[in-house]
Amino acid sequence: MCGIVAYTGKQSAREVLIEGLKRLEYRGYDSSGIAILNSPPYWARKVGKVAALENQVWQDSPAGTVGIAHTRWATHGKPSEANAHPHVDCSGKIFLVHNGIIENYMTLKKRLVAAGHTFCSETDTETLAHLVECAYQGDLEAAVRKALLDVQGTYGVAVLHTAHPQQIIVARRGSPIVLGIGEDETLAASDVSALAHQTDRVVYLEDNEMASLEPGRFAITTLENRAVSREVKPLEIGPEAMERGNFPHFMLKEIFEQPEAVENALRGRINHGEAVAKLGGLESVQERLQQARHLIIVSCGTSYYAGLFGRYVFESLTDLTVETELASEFRYRKLNLRQNTVVLAISQSGETADTLAALREAKRKGALVLGLVNVVGSTIARETHAGVYSHAGIEVGVASTKSFISQLTILTLMALLVGRSRDLSYEEGASILRGLERLPDQIRETLRQSEGIRTLAQKYCQAEHFLYIGRKYQYPIALEGALKLKEIAYIHSEGYAAGEMKHGPIALIDPAFPTMALAPEDGSYEKVVSNIQEIRARDGRIVAVTTEGNTKLHALVDDVITVPKNHEVLLPMLIVVPLQLFAYHCAVLRGCDVDKPRNLAKSVTVE
Ligand code: G6P
Repeated sequence: MCGIVAYTGKQSAREVLIEGLKRLEYRGYDSSGIAILNSPPYWARKVGKVAALENQVWQDSPAGTVGIAHTRWATHGKPSEANAHPHVDCSGKIFLVHNGIIENYMTLKKRLVAAGHTFCSETDTETLAHLVECAYQGDLEAAVRKALLDVQGTYGVAVLHTAHPQQIIVARRGSPIVLGIGEDETLAASDVSALAHQTDRVVYLEDNEMASLEPGRFAITTLENRAVSREVKPLEIGPEAMERGNFPHFMLKEIFEQPEAVENALRGRINHGEAVAKLGGLESVQERLQQARHLIIVSCGTSYYAGLFGRYVFESLTDLTVETELASEFRYRKLNLRQNTVVLAISQSGETADTLAALREAKRKGALVLGLVNVVGSTIARETHAGVYSHAGIEVGVASTKSFISQLTILTLMALLVGRSRDLSYEEGASILRGLERLPDQIRETLRQSEGIRTLAQKYCQAEHFLYIGRKYQYPIALEGALKLKEIAYIHSEGYAAGEMKHGPIALIDPAFPTMALAPEDGSYEKVVSNIQEIRARDGRIVAVTTEGNTKLHALVDDVITVPKNHEVLLPMLIVVPLQLFAYHCAVLRGCDVDKPRNLAKSVTVE
């Protein structure tokens, strides 16, 4: 979603800012803009790719070493130059970029218009520029502080004023801001990936804090103006994490990084002697975990499907009662959150607004709140009582792949940890651990089928609809496979529990409506075969994904993909790989922009 980058230092601001914006492109956006302090100040905005803004900026070559820039993902008002950030006040001296939503902007706007302010956009953000203008009396920091007191909603902001040629004010509430510290320069961004090319030292702002930045210096205060001292931390990603290498797309690179993602998720976390997982991040809450009776998993998108897998794995390895809920629906449920309830928030980015809102609600009600998060230092990671990092590495492709496989791996480890402290046998624990260790090589083996899957995609990529079916552990994978296909190839696809097929989707089956049937030889294999028969009887085309050595399906289906055999719990981590590759190849063959699918954002920071 929207991205912010700000720079004050000695270098040419236009270069640092445009490079920063390019590194934020993966988050999803529809327009971009930049403001650089100079006399007169430079201000440019463009609809479409950052490349359009870059061309304009290169043509104009503005001098200046202090500036702010933004990628916008439209919420209030369509994508247009007028709605793109930075926004400016009536005097043309204040420039402001904003992520989040100003919920009371209509009230504020009415008040400002009545006071004589002229608005040039349909955005909620512009109200903030005018509010700062009203509050300004020579001190920019004080003006931003005063303006923010009027605001309801969420924000990450960066503000410039022509009368303060070295200074940038940033602030956050519910939308991340991280500072990058250099020798003679200070940066800020909504995402560390926009800083990694400039610095390896960062400072995370907390909610309701602001900071005044000058070259090489920063001062943090709370919104109530109390000074805050905050540690400078090393940045754990290098600039190379954002490179595609020899891969044509980040998504393909990340699909191929999955063996290492699983290795990283497992590293140092296996105790063979006791057939249990070692998760350092949960040690501080061991006692409460021991008393837990209920687990509620909350998440969105792909992380929600990981959560659905989590329900099956926790139910089968532990005696907990488990529910998985969409974070966006969590607030509408009347869930009984007691002392012995654990809420687990799963999030790749650690910034998803609905997941964050759900975990805050759960905390308020006294539950133990845990996180399973990929981005180190993200808001969800910091706000949960304890948790486990996925360590999947930075994921750039909007469609989540390697972080999903890490989430499944870690959910299995967590379930094993809880299960072994209850009634899960040593033999069962040991067998799962052995299976987990075989996964990376088995994923490597599965990835070798990429070319074959491309040929298969050629056969099916013109389909306008697709059904994905699976049972038990494969049901969440059917949902995830269908999501991948719709996200990046724009093919309407539905994931279904195979047993539900007869309650609706079977009405759609005809030769133009193919099905991807997930049919490994596990406990529900025979039942899935019956579903395959039912589709066959209605002339539906079928691609089956099964386990190696199963030749029985060839007579029943049009195409077969196989994955290596492993413990039933772990087959999802193998089955999902060909589904990711299938979606990827379909998208490329259909000419889609795989890494930046239309309308989607990597990190959804508004509710
Ligand atoms: C967006 C992304 C998805 C992701 C979902 C949840 O929709 O495009 O790939 O699964 O958000 O994000 P999270 O960062 O919380 O896992």
